[in-house]
Amino acid sequence: MEKGKVLFGDNGFDTLNDYLNSNESLSKIIVLADSNTIEYCLPPFLQKVGKLINYELVEIDPGEEHKNIETVISLWNTLTELGADRKSLLINLGGGVLTDMGGFVASTFKRGMKFINIPTTLLSMVDASTGGKTGIDFGNLKNQIGVFNLPEMVLVSSQFLSTLEARQMRSGLAEMIKHGLIADKKHWNSLNNLDNLDITSLDSLIKQSVAVKIEVVTQDPTEQGLRKILNFGHTIGHAVETFYMNTDKMLFHGEAIAIGMIAEAYLSTLKTGFEMEDADKIKEVILEYFPKTAIEKKDFPAILDLMKHDKKNVSGVISFSLLDDIGSCSYDCYALPEETIEALEYYME
Ligand code: GLY
Repeated sequence: MEKGKVLFGDNGFDTLNDYLNSNESLSKIIVLADSNTIEYCLPPFLQKVGKLINYELVEIDPGEEHKNIETVISLWNTLTELGADRKSLLINLGGGVLTDMGGFVASTFKRGMKFINIPTTLLSMVDASTGGKTGIDFGNLKNQIGVFNLPEMVLVSSQFLSTLEARQMRSGLAEMIKHGLIADKKHWNSLNNLDNLDITSLDSLIKQSVAVKIEVVTQDPTEQGLRKILNFGHTIGHAVETFYMNTDKMLFHGEAIAIGMIAEAYLSTLKTGFEMEDADKIKEVILEYFPKTAIEKKDFPAILDLMKHDKKNVSGVISFSLLDDIGSCSYDCYALPEETIEALEYYME
């Protein structure tokens, strides 16, 4: 099977069982999970993966604050103690923090061991677990250290979502909205009429989102160009997320990206000729799902400053991916600091 393939539901579990059966050369199987996924996701996962009898369970603390080099060092130590080698397999069972970090640990341990992602949050199903980005935060900057490396496979099963809190579900919804806005108008239209985030109706929406992501990353796996469109909403969104990290206004990733998409839709009207009417519609729809965060004007310069660390920047110039139309996005767009401030003001209006 080609690396990085995304499998869905029960068929996906069949393929995973076949993979485990036919890979008797795997020297060791290690399941990486956090205390939440051990409680809620490991039991149903083990029920579906009958062939997983001899495995080691490694637990990490949940949360973005643990997505750092200290946790990575402790995981490298654990893998060493367990006698893991290049023929071992790491199964990452968790959300984006866990699959990003587990992927990074597996990619760097002994120059690389195999890994499989089993995303357990909506956000990681539609975005983080797919496409081969692995990594950790560094200082207060998100995903600053990492490598591109595809998992053996990604298995998306919406059954894990039944225990996910509403705020986490909304966080994933933001990335799905992004997929519609950058590449699939029909998907955007379906998402802007949702009555609720009902798990049963989510399956096809998740598949549509994953299809957008796969289409983009297949064309540009290492983000030399096109893949940057997946960062629509993220230049401003990441900066806002970082600004409020470890404060009482801490935002989930998707909540910050929702702010970023509204502001960057406005920026698009200044830079690409995107229709103001469409930017207003995006704002209206997103604010229905995501209550407005009060960003104080005095904090705008600090937020702008954080954008200088965005990974898309070249020679310190802040780069954006901006909408040309609903369903179409350009990358390598540049905006003046005052235009970016204006976009934050538009969000707050
Ligand atoms: N999360 C954006 C990407 O995978 O490129």
